[in-house]
Amino acid sequence: MIAKGTKAEQYEALVPQIEALIEGEQDLVANLANVAAALKEQFKWLWVGFYLVKDDELVLGPFQGPVACTRIKKGKGVCGASWLKAKTLIVPDVEKFPGHIACSSFSKSEIVVPIFHNDEVIGVLDADSAELNQYDAIDQLYLEKIIALIRFDI
Ligand code: SME
Repeated sequence: MIAKGTKAEQYEALVPQIEALIEGEQDLVANLANVAAALKEQFKWLWVGFYLVKDDELVLGPFQGPVACTRIKKGKGVCGASWLKAKTLIVPDVEKFPGHIACSSFSKSEIVVPIFHNDEVIGVLDADSAELNQYDAIDQLYLEKIIALIRFDI
């Protein structure tokens, strides 16, 4: 269901839906795929999906949107920087982020949220928008909440 209202109201409606979607399912890929789809349907961002740490690289996981680069090294791009710093990064204008990896020339702003398991970053959620300044502290708050719902029995 697509929620209406302010951004916070949309997230408030989406969080329980995501909770219900992934409740009782232990498979990580299945849950990440549905979370990406739910976010894409609600917000119509250009791209939203996951990269997972494998052999000291981020490797493309479930996503919605145009094709994307498959591997990102630690510290590279916004995703690699979020992984290295183990914190959420909000980039209002990707052209002003040194080292930004342009998977799509339509991407103008971005948020990357690290995913933790046993205090280690095991992946990131990446969302890209065709609009400048798309993401703010509200997105950070709710995307971190959504990530915390996902069980990582890996
Ligand atoms: N822009 C990201 C790369 C991933 S794509 O946008 C899907 C980055 O700089 O890390």
